[in-house]
Amino acid sequence: MQEQNESKKRIFSGIQPSGILTLGNYIGALRSWVQLQDEAENLYCVVDLHALTVRQDPATLRRRCTDTLALLMAVGLDPQKNILFCQSHVPAHSELSWLLGCFTYIGELSRMTQFKDKAQRHADNINAGLYTYPVLMAADILLYNTDLVPVGDDQKQHLELARDIAIRFNNVYGPVFTVPDAYIPKIGARVMSITDPTRKMSKSDEEASYIAILDEPDVIRRKLRRAVTDSDGQVRYDPENKPGVSNLMSILYVLTGESFDAIESRFAGRGYGELKNEVADACVAALSPVQAEFKRIQADKAFLEGVMRSGAERASALAGRTMSKVHRKMGLAPYKL
Ligand code: TRP
Repeated sequence: MQEQNESKKRIFSGIQPSGILTLGNYIGALRSWVQLQDEAENLYCVVDLHALTVRQDPATLRRRCTDTLALLMAVGLDPQKNILFCQSHVPAHSELSWLLGCFTYIGELSRMTQFKDKAQRHADNINAGLYTYPVLMAADILLYNTDLVPVGDDQKQHLELARDIAIRFNNVYGPVFTVPDAYIPKIGARVMSITDPTRKMSKSDEEASYIAILDEPDVIRRKLRRAVTDSDGQVRYDPENKPGVSNLMSILYVLTGESFDAIESRFAGRGYGELKNEVADACVAALSPVQAEFKRIQADKAFLEGVMRSGAERASALAGRTMSKVHRKMGLAPYKL
């Protein structure tokens, strides 16, 4: 990957080190990232600093960070073609976050719906980090002259704020930051929760509601057997009236390429149980190779360390250029080490 290729778009995304990525993440985002790896310059950052806004067990956080990197590679992201790294390994993220904090209004941060939600859910720990979380996210993005940020609905407001901060900063100091746009993948589908198919599949909901990329085959089968459907008994694509069945059909479609019409006629007169079994088979078939690859990479500590180190080095080199420009523009005294 050429680190300064003018013609390619730069994409940045941050991934929480939860250690869990869902089938929804796989279908909705990760697979399209793999397709993008030759077309764009991509940075994928495991956002361990963001994770600290809620209490973490140190050993678990450490493990999940490397597991998340391993999982990104297991789905097919090549560490040569993409810059894969941990946020805490590039101190410029925290540094720029401070500087941008001085360009962010309390009023803006108070309006962030995720902050309001999280403050409610973690009422005993409404820390300043939770509040300034979107500023760090803006720093993540703006450090790398990012053109495009793949974000789900829940992060649109944060991205909007990052844009506002960039524009505000540029208005004062001249064009320093690229103003990023949201990236909506061309392929992929929205995968809904198995237990409440009117909601998007999310790892923050109960475990039975999502399929994790690392779920064992019997777990996948059990979860899908319990998938919420309806009482009409017909396998028919109708997201409005039959969200559960339609969700199962679209998972099958995305994983096997079989059209809705074909699925409907093949399942005419057959029950939902058979549909669920087939969806489970398709999930197991799609996820098994990813799981095998994950185990292989996870066991190769030296390789993982190498990926982390070179990712951090490449990201730092890019971030360093932005930081020296920012320092200069803002009037921080120059120095040479
Ligand atoms: N806040 C994002 C989330 O919870 C993660 C994130 C951190 C991110 N920094 C980012 C996403 C920069 C995109 C760009 O999912």
